[in-house]
Amino acid sequence: MSFDTQVLNSRRQRLDDYDELWVFGYASLIYKVDFAYLEQAQANIYGYERRLWQGSSDHRGTPERPGRVATLIPSENMPCFGMAFRVTPEVFLHLDHREKNGYLREEVSIVLLSGREVRGLVYIAYPDNAAFLGDAPIKDLAKHIFQSKGPSGKNKDYVYDLASSLRACGVNDPHIFAVEKALRQLDAP
Ligand code: SIN
Repeated sequence: MSFDTQVLNSRRQRLDDYDELWVFGYASLIYKVDFAYLEQAQANIYGYERRLWQGSSDHRGTPERPGRVATLIPSENMPCFGMAFRVTPEVFLHLDHREKNGYLREEVSIVLLSGREVRGLVYIAYPDNAAFLGDAPIKDLAKHIFQSKGPSGKNKDYVYDLASSLRACGVNDPHIFAVEKALRQLDAP
């Protein structure tokens, strides 16, 4: 199931009012940076955890066989690590298109690793979007991801790239690492 959020997002924040803004990436936006930015910094937002609960029919799956990609779920006071980018508002046209399958822009407070706090936007796919798949046992998540692929590549590579980016930054994400481990078992010859 797909659910195009581009029009909804264009109505959520008036980006024309800004010369520049911050965007917080927590999954593919950490490792696939296909947009221009003015500044980049490791960062945390608080009150969220990553989960591979969003369906992907446009990047890591197809409308017939959607893959699974990351979204954020509420989690009291938990830091969620990611990458913050200071960008010009035009970049959001590209990002709105890239994240169109169910993701809405949400305003958040972003704490850069320097300790500086900035306001910015993050793309979250909420449970009420038509592409949302939700929770499943880790083994089932891994099996589903192992079998999926789409225009942006194999779904398992989405998880491997995310896990290795987090590891390279010294971040432990139990959910992502558990799915990665189960995937590597399926991938073993
Ligand atoms: C993000 O990376 O911030 C959003 C989810 C994704 O595109 O993988």
